[in-house]
Amino acid sequence: MLMSEPIKTIFHMSDIHIGEAGVRAEDFRNILDYIERKAKDVPIPLLLITGDLTSDGLPEEFETFHDAIDGLSIPTIIVPGNHDERNYGASRFEEFFGSRFKRFEDEIVAIYAADSAEPDNDAGHVGRAMYNEIEDFFAEAQDKVRIFALHHHLVPVPHTGREYNVVEDSGDVLGLLTECNCHMVLNGHRHVPWMWRLNDMILYNTGTLLSRRIRGAITQVHTRINIYPGKVEFVIRDKLGSENTFAESTIDY
Ligand SMILES: [Fe+2]
Ligand SMILES: [Fe+2]
Repeated sequence: MLMSEPIKTIFHMSDIHIGEAGVRAEDFRNILDYIERKAKDVPIPLLLITGDLTSDGLPEEFETFHDAIDGLSIPTIIVPGNHDERNYGASRFEEFFGSRFKRFEDEIVAIYAADSAEPDNDAGHVGRAMYNEIEDFFAEAQDKVRIFALHHHLVPVPHTGREYNVVEDSGDVLGLLTECNCHMVLNGHRHVPWMWRLNDMILYNTGTLLSRRIRGAITQVHTRINIYPGKVEFVIRDKLGSENTFAESTIDY
């Protein structure tokens, strides 16, 4: 049964690329201000940021990013992307944001957020060493909406050129997540919004928040993910404030 009001809203952004030419910290702060205001009108808000916070993993880039989100009034989950692990940025990420792997639960969702990047390598990787932990986490959360978050994509995304850095163990990760009855995979890296369904699982790529490296006519966006009993809705909003419902899908919840 579909209901008119969502029971949970996740603000999902990715690929901010602070430090890249043309990316303004002021624009980032304005979007965060908007999200804080909007969060007052949505149920159990959460902000998920799936990597490429910075352009080159440099200390001043992390500092600018951190200053912008510091003191935000809604729970926030952050994992790094390949750009953040340039110049050995992983250690700086940890200084500012703690572990590169995050586990989060509230009354509706259970989110396992993984670092899929490696130092100075644009390719994605989860790794067998993490599989048991991911499995155990979701086994304990079978009554919740189960979400796996990471920077890289598990399945190629249209309109993004030729494929060269999909998660290298994506077949095994997809198999694992299917066995865990995972409802959704949320990621960035490819700078366009896109949704796939694979068996009963939703795979959503949110696109870039501010990078000038966009693809074709697609612009910079963040996504509001509204979860209803039985349904998920992905509303994208560009930096000028235009919104549209990009995709909808059913979920078994
Ligand atoms: Fe990116
Ligand atoms: Fe990336």
